[in-house]
Amino acid sequence: MNILVTGGAGFIGSHTIIELYRAGHTAVVVDNLSNSKPESLRRVAQILKEEGVTGDSFQGVPFHEVDIRDRKGLDRVFEQYSFDACIHFAGLKAVGESVSKPIEYYENNISGTLVLVQAMRDHGVKNIIFSSSATVYGNPEIIPITEECPKGVCTNPYGWTKSMLEQVLTDMQAADKEWNVVLLRYFNPIGAHKSGLIGENPNGIPNNLMPYVTQVAVGKRAELGVFGNDYDTPDGTGVRDYIHVVDLARGHVCALKAIERKCGLGLYNLGTGHGYSVLDVVKAFERVNGVKVPYSIKPRRPGDIATCYSDPSKAERELGWKAQYGLEDMVRDSWNWQRNNPDGF
Ligand code: NAD
Ligand code: UFG
Repeated sequence: MNILVTGGAGFIGSHTIIELYRAGHTAVVVDNLSNSKPESLRRVAQILKEEGVTGDSFQGVPFHEVDIRDRKGLDRVFEQYSFDACIHFAGLKAVGESVSKPIEYYENNISGTLVLVQAMRDHGVKNIIFSSSATVYGNPEIIPITEECPKGVCTNPYGWTKSMLEQVLTDMQAADKEWNVVLLRYFNPIGAHKSGLIGENPNGIPNNLMPYVTQVAVGKRAELGVFGNDYDTPDGTGVRDYIHVVDLARGHVCALKAIERKCGLGLYNLGTGHGYSVLDVVKAFERVNGVKVPYSIKPRRPGDIATCYSDPSKAERELGWKAQYGLEDMVRDSWNWQRNNPDGF
């Protein structure tokens, strides 16, 4: 299949493109580079050539610097190619920033997606895979979280954009059964491609645990703040379902098979089903990589919940997808990326 990948220069998008090509698909990227660099796509091409997935003459994944809110720009892309489906990663994702800039977040993520799906419809491309998030469960009623767990109250505008967009896409599919929509609720993606050539490249001070840990380990930051050790968890620190970004990327390839089967509406958790605490992650990182990660306990971060991990069995049953990498692989690959690229791309 030929896939339009919005946000394909970003962290999850770049890893997904590699898995798409490995599975025999091709991709075209649309990204406005608001949170990424074209260098990531150059490295994707390097990996594909080095792994022998594409021939040496491969010119790279076609890239268009277009904002998804720009209808004319999207039209030009749709006119140039024939697409079978879209994997829609483009969006702003910084939780804290979304609290201070709600208008920008709703505008970018919601208006952007509305412009995109109208362009898709008008060009006859009615297959979409959407990057949603475990954040839509709010403070989950059931642990491990199954897809039957009701959506909850989000604690920030970013989370609401995901929750609202799930509704938009669900309503769109209900109204027009030609659409196939797969909503993928990611748990906590970390890790990097094993080559160390691509990885997560946050701007400024990282919000998320793993990039903060790797920046402390590489000496860019003095110590990690552990946000609370008084949660009702085995060691008092927050528990999450960390998933290797390459496993997550493979999940999108499996979701394409559901689209080929004309699945209508699909909704899947993509997680490992294992919960690890902040201190589990820090200790695994230190043990596997042989580096110290100084930390101190800080107050709880507003909006955080104690425990969040998935029941991923529906994705295994229906998509034939299961995470293959464990925490040791994730901390090793995250460090390999950071060590080789202390300043990112
Ligand atoms: P990322 O920031 O690395 O990638 C997103 C890409 O979208 C960036 O390259 C950015 O430049 C681009 N983009 C943003 N707005 C755009 C616009 N208006 N037009 C065109 N391009 C635009 O983030 P990521 O971690 O790769 O996340 C990909 C998707 O997965 C996002 O939708 C994110 O919300 C979602 N998600 C991420 C996580 C996570 O922890 N990383 C968890 C759950 C869901
Ligand atoms: N944490 C720290 N110190 C830090 C950063 C994080 O102790 O410097 C802790 C948090 O308190 C939490 C855990 O590490 O217990 C994970 O925090 P992250 O910020 O890495 O991830 P979250 O679970 O808060 O949220 C992430 C993404 C969201 C996404 C969600 C899906 O940021 O976009 O996973 O589960 F919606």
